[in-house]
Amino acid sequence: MDRFVIKGGRRLKGTITVSGAKNAALPIMAAALLGDGPSVIHDAPDLADVRHTADLLGELGAEVRRQDGRVHVEVVDESASHAPYDRVRKMRAGICVLGPLLAKRKKARVAMPGGCAIGSRPVNLHLRGLKALGAKIELDGGDIVATAERLKGADIFLGGPFGSTVLGTANVMMAATLAEGTTVIESAACEPEIQSLAEFLTAMGARISGAGSPRMTIEGVEQLHGAEHTLIPDRIEAGTFMIAAAITNGEVHLRNCRLDHLMAVVDKLREVGIHVEADGDEVVVASARHLRATDVTTQPYPGFPTDLQAQLMALLCLANGNSAITEKIFPDRFMHVAELLRMGADIRKEGPTAIVTGVKKLIGAPVMASDLRASAALVLGALVAEGETTIQRVYHIDRGYDAIETKLTALGAEITRVGEE
Ligand code: EPU
Repeated sequence: MDRFVIKGGRRLKGTITVSGAKNAALPIMAAALLGDGPSVIHDAPDLADVRHTADLLGELGAEVRRQDGRVHVEVVDESASHAPYDRVRKMRAGICVLGPLLAKRKKARVAMPGGCAIGSRPVNLHLRGLKALGAKIELDGGDIVATAERLKGADIFLGGPFGSTVLGTANVMMAATLAEGTTVIESAACEPEIQSLAEFLTAMGARISGAGSPRMTIEGVEQLHGAEHTLIPDRIEAGTFMIAAAITNGEVHLRNCRLDHLMAVVDKLREVGIHVEADGDEVVVASARHLRATDVTTQPYPGFPTDLQAQLMALLCLANGNSAITEKIFPDRFMHVAELLRMGADIRKEGPTAIVTGVKKLIGAPVMASDLRASAALVLGALVAEGETTIQRVYHIDRGYDAIETKLTALGAEITRVGEE
């Protein structure tokens, strides 16, 4: 297992290009299963999760090829319909094939994903939505087995105890594209990745309105064809690099960055004292030397994203005063706290809230990556920590950040990947 060795204390300066969004790429690749004929996805990030999805689609009869940042998907055999536990365990987004397989192949057997480092990850809302479309759903040996001769449009409320569900919305909308009649999803997720998926499905011939709002309407069609689509920039990667600029007191220019997808994040960073401005095609992020403490609560889009909670916490560790961070999407998503404490942070957990008291400095230490975003927070802490930090298990980072050490090195960071001896 690779590890990162990072020497802290370098101000990051320069320009990087944000990659295509991981969380748009995964459901969109799954959506390609719905089409007759080839699909091409442009700006696909080079990530372990994209490769896992390609392997899963391969097992499901698709030919998947990557070339110059494009992913080509073409279904050549529709006889398989099983997404086994081994695949879904590695990457929960594997659940996204459930809706397309059911709608296109009339049956799907997809392993029920277990929990993960960020907490319990139920899929009850996905299943409720598909049942409302007329699917018969059973659990067999840990697999979800869904069948339906032809799905039927329905009015579906998809809200859960923590608000909307992103991949649940994706699954139900994908299934509804080939259903008979009209489906209305209430409390649909509004994330830009859902809008990106809706654009791809529309290019395939689907009839969708209201994507990006809490009420989405899908009129079922008989058939979809392959399509081309350019992914939106990864807003979480962009936010992570904004915080990298802020925490190192640097100045970073981001290309391919959509500020309109990052309003809650930019608002919070400005409150902390960071300068974030659009400059032509680029976004410039420059740190103020003095970071102010702030309070933040994670929420579904357009609120502050849970996927940047850990990274913001790393920044607030160095702010002047006390900050309260409340996690409203995944209340147990705090694995980074114990590791940041090892680096000298002062954080106290109270239920789904972390109280962060700013310290003068972080100190390099051996730490362990536990999940994707927690690992990003440790990289951010390490960039500014005194001395050297070793981060074990960086395969978590490789799941979701395209060439992170190359990009950080280009900005002047001292980061080395060390392979297993
Ligand atoms: N939930 C339910 N029932 C369900 C589905 C979700 O109760 O059937 C709950 C979840 O437990 C959670 C909340 O609803 O409390 C929201 O979960 P959601 O379903 O929206 O999460 P997801 O779709 O499984 C995606 C991203 C996550 C991101 C969340 C929230 C992908 C591949 N994953 O997961 O991304 O944190 O939305 O924005 O799009 C990451 O990239 O690091 C990551 C974890």
